[in-house]
Amino acid sequence: MKPHNSDENSPLENIEHWEDFVETATYPEPEHKLKEDYRNYDDPARDTVREFYRLNHKYQTFEFVKAKKAEFVFNTSGKREMSILDAVMYLNTLVDDSDPDIDLPQLQHLLQASEAIRERGYEDWFVLTGLIHDLGKVLCLFGEPQWAVVGDTFPVGCKFSERIVYPEFFEANPDSNNPLFNTRLGIYEEGCGLRNIEMSWGHDEYMYHLVKDYLPDEALYMIRYHSFYAWHREGEYEYLLDDHDRKMLPWVKKFNPFDLYTKSPKTPVWEELKPYYLDLINKYLPAKLDW
Ligand SMILES: [Fe+2]
Ligand SMILES: [Fe+2]
Repeated sequence: MKPHNSDENSPLENIEHWEDFVETATYPEPEHKLKEDYRNYDDPARDTVREFYRLNHKYQTFEFVKAKKAEFVFNTSGKREMSILDAVMYLNTLVDDSDPDIDLPQLQHLLQASEAIRERGYEDWFVLTGLIHDLGKVLCLFGEPQWAVVGDTFPVGCKFSERIVYPEFFEANPDSNNPLFNTRLGIYEEGCGLRNIEMSWGHDEYMYHLVKDYLPDEALYMIRYHSFYAWHREGEYEYLLDDHDRKMLPWVKKFNPFDLYTKSPKTPVWEELKPYYLDLINKYLPAKLDW
């Protein structure tokens, strides 16, 4: 089952494809120097990623982010009550593991990340972060288009960085022509801190709000900013950061390899690991969350 794939709003055949792209992407130089390198028309998978970003960059406006936060963060009615375990199992229906062409099923990606973190002897909240970091992707199952769930994230309300993938697609974003939003600082103040910045909407921001009262700040930064490549990989938006952001950045960087490079041939067996993870979930998180 691959919901919404035929939808023109959701061009990716598999929602992980943007991440495979990130793994190999050379991010653009400031003057769009490498723009042509991205246009590999011989590679259909890359074309769907390109179409995905065209939609993402066009529609992720400040107003859109506010509307989605009102709908999914501040709205308390019509919520679905699910435990973390329910959400893990629910998310795992997003890809069909009988399909030989699919990438890692969601549960395997989460477990490989969390197990790799655990093997290295990190704190248990870090392991838990590996397990839950992508659970916000259930938004796809709620019918949200791919471009509003996955992909690189970036601040809205100020000028888009030239070092976000496919920066040329921001020309179609109305905020690029809005004098309120299209300057270096936009609506923000120098050094105001990422907590005061609105980020493009997706699984990262959504999941952060679901667990923000329960986990250490380091974990929350990993969850909220793991797709903010322009920051944690490219070093952009320095002028929006405060000291706390700078202190947290190494943790976001530390998390990234576990997210991208844990496609190990060893397949963690959920049934064997379940007791450990249920204890871990219960240690930090309430029995149910309102999704
Ligand atoms: Fe993610
Ligand atoms: Fe991930």
